[in-house]
Amino acid sequence: MIKKGIILSGGMGTRMSPLTKAVNKQLLPIYDKPLIFYPLSILMLAKIREVLIIVNKGQLDQYKKIIPDGDRLGMKISYKEQDKPRGLPDAFILGEDFIKKDKVSMILGDNFFYGQSLTKILNNCVKLQQGAKVLLHKVANPENFGVAILNKKKIVKIKEKPKNFISNYAITGLYFFDNKVIQYAKKLKPSKRNELEITDLLNEYRKRNKLSAELIGRGGAWLDTGSIEDFYKTSNFVSVIENQQGFKIACLEEIAFNNGWIQKNDIKKSIKFYGNCNYSKYLMKIIL
Ligand code: G1P
Repeated sequence: MIKKGIILSGGMGTRMSPLTKAVNKQLLPIYDKPLIFYPLSILMLAKIREVLIIVNKGQLDQYKKIIPDGDRLGMKISYKEQDKPRGLPDAFILGEDFIKKDKVSMILGDNFFYGQSLTKILNNCVKLQQGAKVLLHKVANPENFGVAILNKKKIVKIKEKPKNFISNYAITGLYFFDNKVIQYAKKLKPSKRNELEITDLLNEYRKRNKLSAELIGRGGAWLDTGSIEDFYKTSNFVSVIENQQGFKIACLEEIAFNNGWIQKNDIKKSIKFYGNCNYSKYLMKIIL
């Protein structure tokens, strides 16, 4: 079972400046919560209780104001600062002390997932014994993502942002790895843009025939919040679902409570922490 997860929440968010000049992108709102709540909720739905959040140097205090540690969620949450973005695989080099001898999952801080099938898919992914697993989702604009060609559940080819069409299965920003990921990440050479590339890391597994995939079907949503338009689109999506159903997406305390990690008393502490707001009112309903 994979019991540890990394959220890569660095990046300068240059495309969203000036919004990101003073505040990290992952702390900006998607409707009624900071973006970071959504990827964290996905790890929690996968029953991952030990999480490392990698943030930009100098932005740790901002994060700690909203997620000080895992206590209120019955989790162990720690942080590591990254002095400059060196590409996604750097997470496994920076996270070596956190991963130790275990398997690990990684989610990008700006990835949003939603759908009824998701928990079941996540439950399958954390059962990974060896190799690596990615989640794929069909998209209309594959040129903007890493994409994969499949033979049943095995991936036979991957390409980062292909100029010419090879597949419309995008590789989402949620990955599951065995412990070899540290060793493979350390061996990677920076690409032309001087970063370690996730595609190169995944290729280490693919060439050993150890890269498999789970598909998020058309009933599931995956949104990458890279631009301001994406923020509005995703916020609208969350607002429509939440206001229609009366349930919140990515309510961390609700997931922790349903996982049996916290008790009603812990939720009361959270209500005190957040203060008088709609999020707290929702928490009150959970413990009624
Ligand atoms: C990164 C990865 C890409 C993946 C995407 C998912 O791209 O390099 O393979 O499909 O995340 O969000 P970026 O969004 O950093 O350009």
